[in-house]
Amino acid sequence: MTERCQGDTRPRTGPRARTAIVLAAAALLAATSAAFLPGTASAGTTLGASAAEKGRYFGTAVAASRLSDGNYTTILNREFNSVTPENEMKIDATEPQQGRFSYGAAEQIVNHARSRGMSVRGHTLAWHSQQPSWMESMSGSALRSAMLNHVTQVATHFRGQVVAWDVVNEAFEDGTSGARRNSNLQRTGNDWIEAAFRAARAADPGAKLCYNDYNTDNWTHAKTQAVYNMVRDFKSRGVPIDCVGFQSHFNNDSPYVSNYRTTLSSFAALGVDVQVTELDIQGAPAATYRSVVEDCLAVARCNGVTVWGIRDSDSWRASQTPLLFNSSGQKKAAYDAVLAALNNGTTPTDPPTTPPTTPPTTPPSGSCTATLQDSTRWGDRFNSQVTVSGASNWTVVVAVTPPQKVSNTWNGSPTWDSSGNVMTMRSNGSGNVFGFTTMANGTWTRPVVRSCTAS
Ligand code: G3I
Repeated sequence: MTERCQGDTRPRTGPRARTAIVLAAAALLAATSAAFLPGTASAGTTLGASAAEKGRYFGTAVAASRLSDGNYTTILNREFNSVTPENEMKIDATEPQQGRFSYGAAEQIVNHARSRGMSVRGHTLAWHSQQPSWMESMSGSALRSAMLNHVTQVATHFRGQVVAWDVVNEAFEDGTSGARRNSNLQRTGNDWIEAAFRAARAADPGAKLCYNDYNTDNWTHAKTQAVYNMVRDFKSRGVPIDCVGFQSHFNNDSPYVSNYRTTLSSFAALGVDVQVTELDIQGAPAATYRSVVEDCLAVARCNGVTVWGIRDSDSWRASQTPLLFNSSGQKKAAYDAVLAALNNGTTPTDPPTTPPTTPPTTPPSGSCTATLQDSTRWGDRFNSQVTVSGASNWTVVVAVTPPQKVSNTWNGSPTWDSSGNVMTMRSNGSGNVFGFTTMANGTWTRPVVRSCTAS
């Protein structure tokens, strides 16, 4: 498994430590049993065991209120090796009154999971939604302090029991703006996200810390690029972020797209893990479910997939029948497709974590600088990313080597010369990083930045 050890790395003493040791031992025993003992689930026959064979987990959202439903828990215990509390760790559930914490329902799920060797994703510490009313009406420094205290208290309470936290959830706007969502948390200052991550790291140093969002699956979308830019910025400044969660609620308005794999691998190339955190797909088409799993398996830093519920009747979008089991708990065609994908997993092909960088070009008139970095590479094509500094309105000229051809661009307005090999990219308000895909056509020479001009 690529997951970090669940335990806090610092030595502990006292009853809490003994409980942790017993739980850890139980979890280890359960995991070992599942892997090696005859008569238990074996690789290839359940989602969790097959995912584990590929060094991944396969998880589901769990509602505490359903743990008394035998049909539900039979499937849960048989098929999944990771759980995410669907609502029980949210702010309104864990701190219903300011300073009064309530962990009962969340603990029920955590104990159910860990006593059976399943790992737990924590969801979520800071979010504009499902805030208790006392928090909804707060603002400014009081809200900032309350938010940070919440992160600290909850992450401390579950320290060592949660493999990955969705520290911040859904902080960006939909649409083409690429802006932060206007929320009471955002209005406390743009640094609220990094402040939350720092508080979470201090409280639970052994957990992976994730940023989690929806509509960030399509690589060409402004929201995806905006989150990407934030993560890149965080990594460059040492903000403690370890992973990015892609909720992946796919439906007719927000469908799966084939560049999903590019999205996962591009984020992974920033040096973070990626996780599919809330997967459901309208109508549960088997081929789409299969593609999502194959995309995750193709990216070495994709740790696992979580579906947002077990049976269609458990889904927040039940009428879309988007899950792997029907309302009676029978496996659907999508289940078979997912299991097949897990069992035929492809070989990971991540790009290097630190792509080589070409030396910055010398601006002709001291106006701006453009730096080209290699990004994702496939069998027939590769991506490049150009970062411009020194100007917000810029024109960058890039040349590819024939017979290479640029097939796709993002975050800029391109024009080409008559040969089709020299691209002039102009800023279009999407920021100072643009990218493009080059069809290699047998030639893998890195494109060259010829000039950068402020305009
Ligand atoms: O439990 C109460 C019940 O007592 C009450 O009678 C009933 C009346 O409205 O409400 C019940 O609570 C509901 C809760 O789900 C449990 O069913 C809430 O109203 C309802 O708002 C809540 O919806 C959850 C939603 O987040 C809230 O934003 C969904 O279950 C949950 O699946 C959904 O999960 C989110 C992720 O956290 C973030 N990503 C998107 C995803 C889907 O919206």
